[in-house]
Amino acid sequence: MFTAIIFDLDGVITDTARYHYLAWKRLAEGLGVPFDEAFNEQLKGVDRMGSLDLILRRGGLDPDAAERARLADQKNDDYRQLVATMTRADLLPGALRALEAARGAGLKVGLASVSKNAGTILERLGITGYFDYVVDANLITRGKPDPEIFLTAAERLGVAPKACIGVEDAAVGVQAIKSAGMVAIGVGDPTILALADRVVPTLFDFDLAAALRDLAV
Ligand code: BG6
Ligand code: MG
Repeated sequence: MFTAIIFDLDGVITDTARYHYLAWKRLAEGLGVPFDEAFNEQLKGVDRMGSLDLILRRGGLDPDAAERARLADQKNDDYRQLVATMTRADLLPGALRALEAARGAGLKVGLASVSKNAGTILERLGITGYFDYVVDANLITRGKPDPEIFLTAAERLGVAPKACIGVEDAAVGVQAIKSAGMVAIGVGDPTILALADRVVPTLFDFDLAAALRDLAV
């Protein structure tokens, strides 16, 4: 029986994945590093410095720590400008319904995002109150695909991992959920999220009651 559901944020609840993409693309192309949607898939769910490293490696670049920090700040400034005007209207279709269904079913609701901007985004969307616990980059030492972020969320919610459903749009995120011993709902492309127990195109297509009934072990 499931007693908690733990959501990723970017690309699941709101389309900030698009804004991360735009900000990284601008930075990468400014450095002469080619950047497209396929390469961007590798960055989804990866933290800021990890993503920057992947871009630099792709371009065969190896700047010093100070320059890396400057580049990461530049991307984050661009990203924050893109998200500054977000409102509740920027929730992805079905996101609010999924949060309300989870609360209505009496589940604990957690957030597992490696984004240092997660708290700000929840505030902008006006949905902070839906979450019993938020785990972001400040609370973990290892990023996805390591299970630490989902295990920390389960622990803080006071729920055993096997009683949790995790929801993710990134391949590394689905890997993290499965390594944590949880059931994984993938949001997006089933070929990319092949390890998930179930894949839906968006949360609009997610039926929580059916998942609670069909996926329990
Ligand atoms: C993840 C996104 O949620 O957060 C990544 O999928 C992003 O694309 C990462 O790089 C870190 O976000 P931030 O806001 O701390 O730069
Ligand atoms: Mg995501």
